[in-house]
Amino acid sequence: MKPAHKLLFVLCPMLVLGFIYYSSGKLHLYVWGQKPRPESGKLRDSKVNEIWDQLHKHSHYDKDVPATVKVHKVTKNTVKSPVTKEPVVEGPVSVGRTVGSVFDKQGFMLNLDTKLPPELVYKYGNLSEGSCKPGYAAAKMTAIYPKFSKPACMFLDRNFKRLAKVNNYLPPFGFKTQERIIDVILSSTKNYGLGPDLDSLSCKRCVIVGNGGILSNKSLGSRIDEYDVVVRLNEAPVNGYTRDVGTKTTMRITYPEGAIQKPERYEKDSLFVFSAFKPLDFKWLRQMVNREKLGTEGFWKSVAHYVPRDPSEIRILNPFFIQEASFQFIGLPQNNGLMGKGNIPTLGTVAITMALHNCDEVAVAGFGYDMNTPHAPLHYYETVKMSAIKESWTHNISKEKEFLRKLVRANIITDLTNGI
Ligand SMILES: *[C@@H]1O[C@H](CO)[C@@H](O)[C@H](O)[C@H]1NC(C)=O
Ligand SMILES: *[C@@H]1O[C@H](CO)[C@@H](O)[C@H](O)[C@H]1NC(C)=O
Ligand SMILES: *[C@@H]1O[C@H](CO)[C@@H](O)[C@H](O)[C@H]1NC(C)=O
Repeated sequence: MKPAHKLLFVLCPMLVLGFIYYSSGKLHLYVWGQKPRPESGKLRDSKVNEIWDQLHKHSHYDKDVPATVKVHKVTKNTVKSPVTKEPVVEGPVSVGRTVGSVFDKQGFMLNLDTKLPPELVYKYGNLSEGSCKPGYAAAKMTAIYPKFSKPACMFLDRNFKRLAKVNNYLPPFGFKTQERIIDVILSSTKNYGLGPDLDSLSCKRCVIVGNGGILSNKSLGSRIDEYDVVVRLNEAPVNGYTRDVGTKTTMRITYPEGAIQKPERYEKDSLFVFSAFKPLDFKWLRQMVNREKLGTEGFWKSVAHYVPRDPSEIRILNPFFIQEASFQFIGLPQNNGLMGKGNIPTLGTVAITMALHNCDEVAVAGFGYDMNTPHAPLHYYETVKMSAIKESWTHNISKEKEFLRKLVRANIITDLTNGI
């Protein structure tokens, strides 16, 4: 081939690909009605803790809400009430197809088909009605998000340094710089799974119980207790609310500032699952595991001084779920792999991401807020009102909700309280 021909040969496909990419980007913006997001500035490693503190002065989405917060003005296009939900299949599908793009910017199919793929219809054909479907969540996820790869361990184990996707990121997106302290913690906990009974189940059903007021007075407790794995978040209580939230807690995922502070409020027989957001959090965990004296400098609110758990009941959540939820699923700013404004997923979405990889069926309850009822309670266990929500600096609630709605629409997760 002549050099000029060679060049054309290479250039043509590139131009075509470039055009497709360009148009799919534009369409995506059209589909979700967003503006392109500005790239955040570079942050220095040493600044991470400081920035974390700054961010949290403004954030209270999944934890305590200060009494003096301003009322957040809710605009119609950021939050949709359940009443105004769009139909399952909508306009953007045909718009996407006219230029051959079937995926949105995050790599999800624009057409969130709710039907079971034929191979699953066959696989599940002989199962009796209502029985657990092995591999269901991951298979449906792959059907609408082909990049999905199921294997991702729930908790870090002694081989954690081999986890290629996380060993190069600083917390919260990985564990870089924390390897030694994690080694020390894991050599004390000596357990890295859910326990023999759950680990040996051939089909696991999990429910993530969010803390939303939407759980109140729905009497879902007994339904929640039917799941094999019941995941709760931070300090959300069970006692006094069992009719609505159930009695069973397989694990409680938390971070230092979110953890239950009163030792007597910890339930028996649940795993204390630690999710780190900043480097200092690992130090806190080592102090809890080894019952060392606690230095409380550097946290953005008071933290538990004592976790009444045997080391064998403590786990470290794989930070991959924070990374994947933020950068892949929700599409928050990468910020060079460092935490920055609006790029931290909420703990509930992190837990759902974990479940997509590790459970055969996934349900959620207590997620989502109905902004049309500002006097409804924000959390099921306290009287703070919905209207106390204001713009969060750490999370991007509206982008996160877009992701969760894709999961619900495609029937990947079941939303027991219909809040998403
Ligand atoms: C379902 O049952 C039929 C009849 O017993 C059998 O031929 C078929 O292979 C089964 N399908 C699966 C997926 O197990
Ligand atoms: C739940 O029911 C109780 C008792 O009927 C009532 O006082 C409370 O306001 C209800 N909560 C919500 C969120 O509807
Ligand atoms: C959330 O994402 C949208 C769209 O990318 C952006 O316009 C908005 O500023 C983000 N909000 C926060 C709090 O970062």
